[in-house]
Amino acid sequence: MAILIVLLILLFIHIHGSGHHREARGITATKRGCDLFQGNWVIDDSYPLYNSSECPFILNEFDCIRNGRPDKNYVKYRWQPKDCNLPRFNGEDLLRRLRGKSILFVGDSLSLNQWQSLTCMLHTAVPTAKYTSVRTGGLSTFTFPSYDVKLMLSRNAFLVDIASESIGRVLKLDSIEDGKKWKGNDILIFDSWHWWLHIGRKQPWDFIQEGNQTYKDMDRLVAYEKGLKTWAKWVEDNVNPNKTRVFFQGVSPDHLNAAKWGQPKARFCEGQMVPVSGLTYPGGSHPAEIVLQKVLGGMTKHVNLLNITTLSQMRKDGHPSVYGYGGKRSMDCSHWCLPGVPDTWNLLLYAALIQN
Ligand SMILES: *[C@@H]1O[C@H](CO)[C@@H](O)[C@H](O)[C@H]1NC(C)=O
Ligand SMILES: *[C@@H]1O[C@H](CO)[C@@H](O)[C@H](O)[C@H]1NC(C)=O
Ligand SMILES: *[C@@H]1O[C@H](CO)[C@@H](O)[C@H](O)[C@H]1NC(C)=O
Ligand SMILES: *[C@@H]1O[C@H](CO)[C@@H](O)[C@H](O)[C@H]1NC(C)=O
Repeated sequence: MAILIVLLILLFIHIHGSGHHREARGITATKRGCDLFQGNWVIDDSYPLYNSSECPFILNEFDCIRNGRPDKNYVKYRWQPKDCNLPRFNGEDLLRRLRGKSILFVGDSLSLNQWQSLTCMLHTAVPTAKYTSVRTGGLSTFTFPSYDVKLMLSRNAFLVDIASESIGRVLKLDSIEDGKKWKGNDILIFDSWHWWLHIGRKQPWDFIQEGNQTYKDMDRLVAYEKGLKTWAKWVEDNVNPNKTRVFFQGVSPDHLNAAKWGQPKARFCEGQMVPVSGLTYPGGSHPAEIVLQKVLGGMTKHVNLLNITTLSQMRKDGHPSVYGYGGKRSMDCSHWCLPGVPDTWNLLLYAALIQN
């Protein structure tokens, strides 16, 4: 009898305990109707979410601390949505949820930035779990074998094709051959923007083609919209929403023009040590974001937008500036130091994944 009573008490504690736990999570997760993308950055002493020197595979170009960045406050900022909280990251929980799944990032080096942040966040959660990391051509594959989780990154700056033809390198706005490699994954996370702006030596194409028409150049926002529409059509035609969740990493802003945040005398993002304060960015919305919103709004299949633009616009302090690429390349105000802003992009991804 005594044993039975003890068992009943233990059972009560267990039920009560786990119920309580669930409730606590419900509150921090997502309040219905709350805009997670509107808020401000606050100092949180429990940040950063990981220590870059304990992330053995971190790329040099993101490792600002190792490259000598002297100020450290920029790793201490937590994104605080205006009307609710982001769930705290639980890497083990995420790995369990992702068991048996493959996640594919497709995009440019901002996609690399986010993929790398996520692998560091997960490795920190399970530091003794075995991992593998392999790069073959444009495809990087990171796995946690004991969780049967695969995180891949396919480098693809435009999403649509660039073909070598007799006239030269042709950016084909209505062709998306690479899509063949994207099928069959459980989670797809796309991004594309920065390369659409490149001119001169950094522009990897000689002509733009759409249908039968070949152009020497065109308005880059117009080209971006056409390329995105081709991508959207690929999603409509190829994604089975019962199997695959599709995300789009919104437009990641750079901070090359300091006049936009009211410091016309500043040299790019160099020496910036605090975020923009307040709820809005003085430079206004990003033109590419408006294009992206329009294309996503016209789709019938659901694409989850990680709307990182405004919150990243506030983080003029988050870039490597002269502390990227081992300090060797002059000024990087496009990518982000790690730990740093892309960790928050992954918190938003996590919030979306645990919501249902
Ligand atoms: C992203 O979020 C900001 C802040 O809430 C909002 O102003 C903007 O319109 C959103 N962008 C898109 C593309 O939804
Ligand atoms: C990060 O890890 C390194 C190596 O383990 C350690 O020396 C350093 O103190 C840690 N930094 C922080 C901020 O915890
Ligand atoms: C391309 O040209 C061919 C032959 O002139 C024509 O039949 C076809 O409709 C054109 N396609 C487009 C998309 O303009
Ligand atoms: C997805 O699942 C729903 C409900 O089970 C089913 O009606 C629908 O046909 C499925 N769609 C596809 C494309 O498999």
